[in-house]
Amino acid sequence: MVHDGIMDALEAIVTRKVVRQFARRPVELDRLRRIVDAGRHAMSARNLQPWRFVVVRDPDTLRQLGALCSTGRFIADAPAAVAVLKDAANQRWADTDCAQAVANMANAAWAMGLGTCWVGNFDAAAIAQRLAVPDGWAVFTVLPFGYPDPANPPQAKQLKPQRETIYFERFGNPRP
Ligand SMILES: Cc1cc2nc3c(=O)[nH]c(=O)nc-3n(C[C@H](O)[C@H](O)[C@H](O)COP(=O)(O)O)c2cc1C
Repeated sequence: MVHDGIMDALEAIVTRKVVRQFARRPVELDRLRRIVDAGRHAMSARNLQPWRFVVVRDPDTLRQLGALCSTGRFIADAPAAVAVLKDAANQRWADTDCAQAVANMANAAWAMGLGTCWVGNFDAAAIAQRLAVPDGWAVFTVLPFGYPDPANPPQAKQLKPQRETIYFERFGNPRP
């Protein structure tokens, strides 16, 4: 279901795909704020909220971030990105919590017609320096955000089937 151009949560979750190629269209600041706010609302262990988010729209900075992400060069061509920072002192749960913030942002973006792609490999120290990240915070990931390039729409992934991945009562039983 779509209301005012925004998908409901469940539809966004089950239709989301990673987007690595972006339209040249800029992203409205209000939408970026809503995306990051979805990240801020993620669950976190002991409610410590061990995250900070740096929204980047400056084209030079985006180009530099792309150059610093070996598996995320496409950030250079995105209209915006969000650097997700984790509390380095929270070694037990910060990664788990930040991953949930990423999922929230990806789904919120998709619900509004935008896309992102998790980027796993990057020069964390150089990115931290570029974004003036203080001691005590580490780069968790950098997410590009933008409208999908209509000429290169996101591709549906091959999902493992339900009967192979979802069981009832005991491992391996596909029936309720
Ligand atoms: C932890 C994690 C790290 C990832 N790292 C990268 C990456 O560095 N570069 C990239 O292009 N995609 C990356 N991806 C995206 C996955 O390739 C993508 O989510 C997967 O192929 C499934 O596609 P879908 O998200 O469209 O369903 C990453 C995803 C996750 C969850």
